[in-house]
Amino acid sequence: MDIISEIADLAQYENCAFVPTMGALHEGHLSLIREAKRFHIPVVVSIFVNPEQFAPHEDYETYPKSLDQDSRFAKSAGADVVFAPSVETMYPNSNQTITLPPAATEPQLEDACRPGHFRGVCLAVARLFDLVKPTAAIFGEKDYQQFLVIHQMVQQYKERWKNLHIIGAPNIRDDDGLAMSSRNVFLTTDQRTQALAIHQALNEPTEKKMVEMLDQHGLDVEYAVIRDETTLLEPVHGKPIRALIAAKVGNVRLIDNCVRNNSS
Ligand code: PAF
Repeated sequence: MDIISEIADLAQYENCAFVPTMGALHEGHLSLIREAKRFHIPVVVSIFVNPEQFAPHEDYETYPKSLDQDSRFAKSAGADVVFAPSVETMYPNSNQTITLPPAATEPQLEDACRPGHFRGVCLAVARLFDLVKPTAAIFGEKDYQQFLVIHQMVQQYKERWKNLHIIGAPNIRDDDGLAMSSRNVFLTTDQRTQALAIHQALNEPTEKKMVEMLDQHGLDVEYAVIRDETTLLEPVHGKPIRALIAAKVGNVRLIDNCVRNNSS
């Protein structure tokens, strides 16, 4: 498997199935690569820790970086190439703009907790789509709002990415129910046990009960909500809904979500 960083080397992989990542690959990412393999076209995995999507006080500097191990993992799951561009390749000039879709500004979830985050995600993903020119791009539903934002961005820029299909892949959990995340490595054993309350809270019947469960386990809740699945706004009678949580265990910020039955 090749590891490339130059734009010119990407030409041979046009119309691939693409898995964009920030590295620190775990079983969740590998499941995205396996999903990409189902298209029976070359699979490109990008590894780029995107400075634009971290606020100054966030964990850009300490975000786990491990290109050698990541490349081995990507290969083991069947990737054909790893694209690891430099910041200069990704952002050749500093005045890039992007029109953010509604899911990036309206729900008041990740968009409210992490101002500027989706602008950074969209800038990186748009640049990667322009460079890699994939036919399909696979995103994990663990970052459900991100998945919706990217889906809407591609619909919004229909002419720019004509034949691109955005695919959502299910959230992958450890045996104990904790959603896989590159940030889980920062949890102590006790914090990991505490973090299991997130998965439990996702199944509580009301938002109030979700918050109570998280509070009881000492988590610092940023949001614990039940929302319409396609807009992430308030639920609409009879339409699919999702429960979503962002909470901190110590200094580690975790997010998770799951589909819910809309019986209301
Ligand atoms: O989900 C991620 O790892 C990142 O947000 C992404 C999509 C690779 C953009 O930098």
